[in-house]
Amino acid sequence: MAKNSNLGQAKAAKNDEFYTQYVDIQKEVNAYIEYNPDVFRGKTILLPCDDPEWSNFTKFFAQNFEFFGLKKLISTSYAIESKKYKTDWQPTLFETENPLYNVDKSRVKGKIFTLTHDTNQNGRIDIDDLQWNYLEGDGDFRSAEVTALRDEADIIITNPPFSLFREFLAWIREREKSFLLIGNMNAVTYKEVFPLIKDNIIWLGSSFGSKTYLTTDGGTQTMGNTCWFTNIDHGRRHQPLQLMTKEDNLRFNKKLKGQEDYIRYANYDAIEVPYVELIPKDFDGIMGVPKSFLEKYCPEQFEIIGCAEGDSGKELGLVPFNRELKKLNKSLRDGQLYYMVDGKPEKPYARILIRKKQ
Ligand SMILES: C[S@@+](CC[C@H](N)C(=O)[O-])C[C@H]1O[C@@H](n2cnc3c(N)ncnc32)[C@H](O)[C@@H]1O
Repeated sequence: MAKNSNLGQAKAAKNDEFYTQYVDIQKEVNAYIEYNPDVFRGKTILLPCDDPEWSNFTKFFAQNFEFFGLKKLISTSYAIESKKYKTDWQPTLFETENPLYNVDKSRVKGKIFTLTHDTNQNGRIDIDDLQWNYLEGDGDFRSAEVTALRDEADIIITNPPFSLFREFLAWIREREKSFLLIGNMNAVTYKEVFPLIKDNIIWLGSSFGSKTYLTTDGGTQTMGNTCWFTNIDHGRRHQPLQLMTKEDNLRFNKKLKGQEDYIRYANYDAIEVPYVELIPKDFDGIMGVPKSFLEKYCPEQFEIIGCAEGDSGKELGLVPFNRELKKLNKSLRDGQLYYMVDGKPEKPYARILIRKKQ
């Protein structure tokens, strides 16, 4: 048991150490700029949980400082000694050859990089104008000094440690800040996250699909299950899904071949829609759709009723599974939907319940 939990902790620590590619940041941020060219104008952006010496977040925003009309860019890093996942880290030449270099601080202090003006007087503000220093502490986002930087900032942008995603989001939301974060898609069903998505307080970003991240050993790692979470508006979420009628889906879509109608759940008054493309445009009742619907969700087109998973599902009244049902399908859990197939209960994957807006 102890061995397993150590392994779990090691895995979580390793899962926190991967770095975002420039091109992915650019693709996502461009969606906000296209929607509102002044979205960052006059704003202070904080990039916490970064390693400013080579973070692509820092590079991207420093290089676009003038184009975006930023007021200030602040980037902070977490001390190597505080990181749970150990690597054979060495300070960079950038640090060791700088007059500020301090061998006692290098491993145990976080760093702060700030950009406000043209320090080298070459006529433009860019990455060469970043000024840095050691932080008082290790750069933990929860520390008083990084929290003060949060309070100073208008917008917080990062790929935070996945193991602390809930805590990180709660930390941002202690103040009403704009944010853009990378997280695991599974976070949409967290009880701390789903109600915010349901109420349109936060939503998913613009770009999807698997992304390749840089790893500490100089390699890459592709992850299919990450996405952006934000409360900054972008155009994609106002584009309604193009859908067919129920009748046409049943007639023409091969995924429904042999079905006379959509399946109805046995424990909730709604139909099962196993693929987003099968959402019927003319159905007025509640529909259970895959989580990936949230990547296409347009709040003017649909409303979100709930999430049929865990605590959120229990709140919808999807409890309890009686002994007889459990005997027929041991994987049934309270909080989930099921439908009957040949006298046996079957459950779909995690479903979001939605309804067409009238
Ligand atoms: C997923 S990585 C992403 C790094 C960078 N933001 C990027 O996208 O390239 C998350 C980083 O947060 C750091 N981290 C872990 N715990 C932290 C904490 N409590 N406060 C600040 N940073 C932390 C990790 O060491 C890791 O470098």
